[in-house]
Amino acid sequence: MKKLRVRDILLKKSSNEKLTVLTAYDYPMAFLCDNAGIDIILVGDSAGMVVLGYPSTIPVQMEEMLLFVGAVGRATKHSLITADMPFGSYQTSVNSAIDNAIKLIKAGSDAVKLEGGTEISGTIKALVDSGIPVMGHVGLRPQTSVLWDGYQTQGDTLAAARKIISDAKSLEQAGVFSIVLEMVTDEVTEIISKSTAVPIIGIGSGNNCDGQVLVLHDILGLYGKLKPRFVKQYLNLSEVIHVALSNYINDVRSGVFPSKENIFHMSDDEYSRLKNMLGKGDGVDE
Ligand code: KIV
Repeated sequence: MKKLRVRDILLKKSSNEKLTVLTAYDYPMAFLCDNAGIDIILVGDSAGMVVLGYPSTIPVQMEEMLLFVGAVGRATKHSLITADMPFGSYQTSVNSAIDNAIKLIKAGSDAVKLEGGTEISGTIKALVDSGIPVMGHVGLRPQTSVLWDGYQTQGDTLAAARKIISDAKSLEQAGVFSIVLEMVTDEVTEIISKSTAVPIIGIGSGNNCDGQVLVLHDILGLYGKLKPRFVKQYLNLSEVIHVALSNYINDVRSGVFPSKENIFHMSDDEYSRLKNMLGKGDGVDE
């Protein structure tokens, strides 16, 4: 499978091919996603919650994102990697946004993602003008929604719908190569997908978009604290791991592990020389 570039992602919209996007934050999971043929691996700041145990994405630092991006970059041959810019890394000035985006690209990402609409379109344009591919993110914006109204459906009133539509338009004009729409009503998602040239990637935003993104730990059943209705859980990995760990504990306690095939031996010759030497009482401390 060849390495996907921004151009390939854009072409999928014109050829009506749905984009598959999943988050990953470490080497083994990124390797599996890449190997399975996922189009875009999103190194989301959701890592703060599902990997680092923060209560929201707000505390996530650039240094933490750089570690995750490096690990994913080393595992990935095919998928396009997009890294979230964490809260505080793009709001203070356009220059610091560019500096931080460059750090993520140097660490191994192919693109960056920022949450926000019209108000950050200037920053997005500056990033794109610097040569950095940008994915937008409108509708529910987890970094700031948690400070205002929590995780609510977006675009369910005329005013809210108009705001999301105009946010998406301004991101497209600023040069994004795709837009994540989070928890947006199906009707608004359809309007935006049909009126936008760049792929619209939904999370909790229905079927009428150009692709889907979910958090890997949610679909694998590895994170139980939040269970959004829009998630489809494909596996209960927590349960599978629990069984494996219980078996390990039992095996160690009962002496079943380690068994013959896990144990290393001296040759008979070396062992008898060692026993002879110990018998003579020389060379070994008491
Ligand atoms: O951080 C993340 O995982 C995301 C997805 C929810 C789109 O931004």
